[in-house]
Amino acid sequence: MSKLDLAVRHGHVATAEGMAYYDIGVRDGRIVALGRDLPAAKVEIDASGRVVTPGGIDSHCHIEQPMPAGVRLADDFDSASLSALCGGTTTLVPFAVQESGIALPETLAEYRRRAESRSRLDVAFHMVLAEPHAHALAHEIPAVIEQGCTSFKVYMTYEGMRLTDRQILEVLAVARREGAMTMVHAENADCIDWLTDQLLAAGRVAPHEHAASRPMLVEREAAFRAMALAELVDVPFLIVHVSSPETVAQIAAARARGLHVHAETCPQYLLLTAADLHGDAHEGAKYVCSPPPRDDRSREGLWAALATGQFDVVSSDHCPFGFADPLGKAAGLGRDFTCIPNGLPGVETRLPLLVSEGVLAGRLSWPQFVALGATQAARLYGLYPRKGSLMVGADADIVVWNPDDERVVSNDGLHHRADYTPYEGMRVRGWPEWVVGRGEVLFAQGRIAAEPGRGRVVPCDRPLPPRPGVAALAGGK
Ligand code: URP
Ligand code: ZN
Ligand code: ZN
Repeated sequence: MSKLDLAVRHGHVATAEGMAYYDIGVRDGRIVALGRDLPAAKVEIDASGRVVTPGGIDSHCHIEQPMPAGVRLADDFDSASLSALCGGTTTLVPFAVQESGIALPETLAEYRRRAESRSRLDVAFHMVLAEPHAHALAHEIPAVIEQGCTSFKVYMTYEGMRLTDRQILEVLAVARREGAMTMVHAENADCIDWLTDQLLAAGRVAPHEHAASRPMLVEREAAFRAMALAELVDVPFLIVHVSSPETVAQIAAARARGLHVHAETCPQYLLLTAADLHGDAHEGAKYVCSPPPRDDRSREGLWAALATGQFDVVSSDHCPFGFADPLGKAAGLGRDFTCIPNGLPGVETRLPLLVSEGVLAGRLSWPQFVALGATQAARLYGLYPRKGSLMVGADADIVVWNPDDERVVSNDGLHHRADYTPYEGMRVRGWPEWVVGRGEVLFAQGRIAAEPGRGRVVPCDRPLPPRPGVAALAGGK
């Protein structure tokens, strides 16, 4: 075999299937050889004493999304992809959000332009459906699926985004017909609105009241309802940012009935609690996200659910707002908790936290880490095996982890543009030492070598076989 472009040698290689010692050979951006005694390479990475994994896939992040008036996200594709890269992620799957009066293919084209001009990493898109009108369902969704956008998020809450059960059924039926994946944000909007009115009327306006306005049962109820809708249509789907073992228990019960329901959780639900929202002054605003973090029992229950394979994916739900920014978290200053934009930064810390608190704390194995942080997202969203794997033929997206690299998290050391991290002061062990994307060394022992705009938009395959008709109408349901 002629000279390789790059070789990663002597590492302990972890994939979702297991761990073994072998070398990885790369040519023309792809993995071309696995084994021992590979030919010489132009670039040699010595991974002795290190763990080698596929590059991370962050399949839930909000980047360059237009926000409601008076609010803006802190990151664009340049800063978000830089931050992701420094945390061991090589593929981002953010949302392109439908806007009223704009056709979905046009929306997708606009987000592709944003990513192609600024992203340092490869990007694929999900589409948020805020208005699933007849033309969108019949023509626009199939058109964007043809263009490689094959997953769709729907919201059960948030003014202007929230769909009715009927609309969700219609989206699920199109997903079944087209072989697409539906992602559901499960929170009961009416319960939240009613509780919010009670809290505001009682003068309970502080940031921590955000958690009181969205107690566990609003997620549990909505998740149960979403599963019933998907059962009626008989289509697999995924519940995003599951915050509590109560919802996990409902998912387990639905799975026992034969429903293919997938589940995602995020580091904020594994590591933070509602107590974090009780900071001095406005400090609690840093932790306002939806669903809110719960309690210690809930965190431990979620770790146990991860360990027993009840989750498919751990994503960041990176949705960064500046704390001091009047168009960020400070929009809520002197007002009430409903004026604090929802969301946390976390695209860079996602995988190091999962290594440190998951693998090195003995809660997860390296193969579980790879499955949760990369491979299963690739499978769910039609990117596998090109992404999320180390197979011969896959894109050479490779991370070399140093499990002995221990750092105290400080926002100064991160690369997003938010002015805080929810994990400030945490001791985290296990950071990327080398990151390779499509065969290029993008991060080498702290040196960043990825330019904005090098990232490509990657088309997703249909994750499911298209199935016309609705089972419930065929009798028996
Ligand atoms: O609070 C959150 N999670 N903000 C981001 C939007 C969403 O619902 O994922
Ligand atoms: Zn959501
Ligand atoms: Zn989100």
